[in-house]
Amino acid sequence: MHDFEHSPPTPGCTAAIIPAAGSGERFGDARNKIFATLAGQPIWFHAASRLRARAEVGPIVMAVAEADRKAFEAEFAPLVEQLGIQLVNGGAVRTDSVGAALDAIADDSVVMVAVHDGARPLVTDGDLAAVFAAAWHSRAAILATPVAGTIKRDVGYGRKSVTIDRRDLWTALTPQVFHLGLLKEAYRKHNGRPATDDAQLVERIGHDVVLVRGAADNLKITFPEDLLVAEAILARQTNHA
Ligand code: C5P
Repeated sequence: MHDFEHSPPTPGCTAAIIPAAGSGERFGDARNKIFATLAGQPIWFHAASRLRARAEVGPIVMAVAEADRKAFEAEFAPLVEQLGIQLVNGGAVRTDSVGAALDAIADDSVVMVAVHDGARPLVTDGDLAAVFAAAWHSRAAILATPVAGTIKRDVGYGRKSVTIDRRDLWTALTPQVFHLGLLKEAYRKHNGRPATDDAQLVERIGHDVVLVRGAADNLKITFPEDLLVAEAILARQTNHA
């Protein structure tokens, strides 16, 4: 049994799950976003490399769409092997993909799990360290960034808007890090209700999730133009490394 209060995380105690099985529809390319590159390397490889660089991270399980699996392995097998990644087939929605990866974690020494979007290649080591440390003590922590814009809710037939007070609003980022048993329980009780992140499932079973302020430029590549912004952020990160 781990003494979460007093002992530091042990090497390899955290499994990383990388959902990368989206359809990439909004990306609008002929091929799925999973094949897109940033500075010469696949987007997912940036994300996975940053996780692999952390001592806490042991197994990495990545969910890939079944339809892309063959082409993915044909193209990327050496990179997958280099980072020691286990592949699983994803599902129809994100929670199906994460659930499949969760079921594949077989290593008994794993006590924590970090879920990180394959489409977020720019997470910094400092932010990883901060969210890992917070989750180790609280059992559930996510990176998040304060909402920057003014948020409107459409409340009516005539497209009537009301303004939401943004002072306590945050945009959820990843990684989202949990005690393994807690996330497994959240998934067992999920029952298919829609959820766009994992923290939502943990909140539903009544467990607090700590928000750790992370860099807003940990962006999710969704549209092709996001790659231009990502390249600029990557260049700045590389110059300051
Ligand atoms: O759809 P969304 O942009 O929220 O996806 C976030 C991440 O979840 C992406 O990395 C995407 O590949 C992944 N995903 C998945 N399986 C799905 C849908 C999304 O692994 N069915």
